[in-house]
Amino acid sequence: MATFSKSVSALRSSAIRDLMSLASRPDIISFAGGMPANDLFPVKEVEELFMQLDDKTKRAAFQYGPTEGLPMLQESLTGWLEEKGLPVKSNRLLITTGSQQALNLLAKAFIDPGDRVLTEYPCFIGAIAAFRAAGADVRSIPLDSEGIDIRTLREETQRTPAPKFLYATPYFHNPAGILYSEKRKLELIKLLQGTAIPLIEDDAYGDLWFHEEDRARLMPIKAINPDGVDVCYTGSFSKILGPGLRLGWLLAPEPIYEKCELLKQSADACSPSFTQVIADAAIRSGMMGGYVETVRKAYLERAALMTAALRQHLPDYVGWSEPRGGFYIWLTLPEEINAADVLKKAIEAGAVFVTGSTFDPEGTRMNAMRLSYCNNSPEEIERGIPLIAKAIRDCCR
Ligand SMILES: Cc1ncc(COP(=O)(O)O)c(C=O)c1O
Repeated sequence: MATFSKSVSALRSSAIRDLMSLASRPDIISFAGGMPANDLFPVKEVEELFMQLDDKTKRAAFQYGPTEGLPMLQESLTGWLEEKGLPVKSNRLLITTGSQQALNLLAKAFIDPGDRVLTEYPCFIGAIAAFRAAGADVRSIPLDSEGIDIRTLREETQRTPAPKFLYATPYFHNPAGILYSEKRKLELIKLLQGTAIPLIEDDAYGDLWFHEEDRARLMPIKAINPDGVDVCYTGSFSKILGPGLRLGWLLAPEPIYEKCELLKQSADACSPSFTQVIADAAIRSGMMGGYVETVRKAYLERAALMTAALRQHLPDYVGWSEPRGGFYIWLTLPEEINAADVLKKAIEAGAVFVTGSTFDPEGTRMNAMRLSYCNNSPEEIERGIPLIAKAIRDCCR
């Protein structure tokens, strides 16, 4: 029998994932996926963009490209990011194969087996998996409605040896849905300035805001450009064009960029040229900006429908808050309730969601669940939420 590495042997398919395989029945209403709306993808627009490309660019689309990304996309993406105030010129930009790859490269660049890294609780499952695959001891710090708990974070940063980095998703968090307050971001910056701990700032959802008044809160920490903190900023085309492009980016200080670029050479040499050409044309033509506005409005409508249904059907002992952007609503059940039991009943009734323990690095907190509203029709939301509310009630009796 072959002997596998310690890090891969530590990876497990969870019981929940096995349960989720039951949920592939075609009649099931799924609020589980972190997927953008299938019905809104800009299929026609992308077809037209490709047809309008000149022959040289179409050929470049079939060819290998530089590891850092095609020069044309480097240039147009720089413009897109500079509009958010991001300091692209004083850092280095790496086009990655989804922002998942950026997390994977950073994990490999920083983590030796057994190293401690800090995340939020709850935390994006793809980040937990990337850090674990590199052998990290992943420790999480709870979130409240304004962001990470600063007191607990301070305690964790003072323990020795120091954690290798902090990973945070301050904008429309997956799965918690929250948007950090400006005050909490400043507290976080101040705390990190007293340490040598880099911050991985994941901004996969920041463009999907619902309210103009939140724009100031969406200013990335990377754009604030705080002295004395190495901020590695990651982003993605997945939610603003389509995850099938498999394109994201990392904006990092030169020394960190260099390590990640070396690691990327050994991972996949370069990200797909074909979709880089499309992404570039989508930015330059203004198509991507227009598409983001369209989905922002559609997701706001879907979120409003789901929150109305939750208000109507959920018992008041379930905690949740109104989303201000992004894809998700996080529900907190009474402490003694296991969301896996609710999931079992919900699947029997015909609806599915993701249990909160999936997003718990320590795997000890069972009483939460994530609902996604962006890939469902109004009819599915109106039919599915009562099924989930009933499953919760049945478990809380
Ligand atoms: C918070 C967060 N970061 C990163 C990613 C990775 O996205 P991608 O690899 O498609 O860019 C996701 C995907 O759902 C996410 O939710």
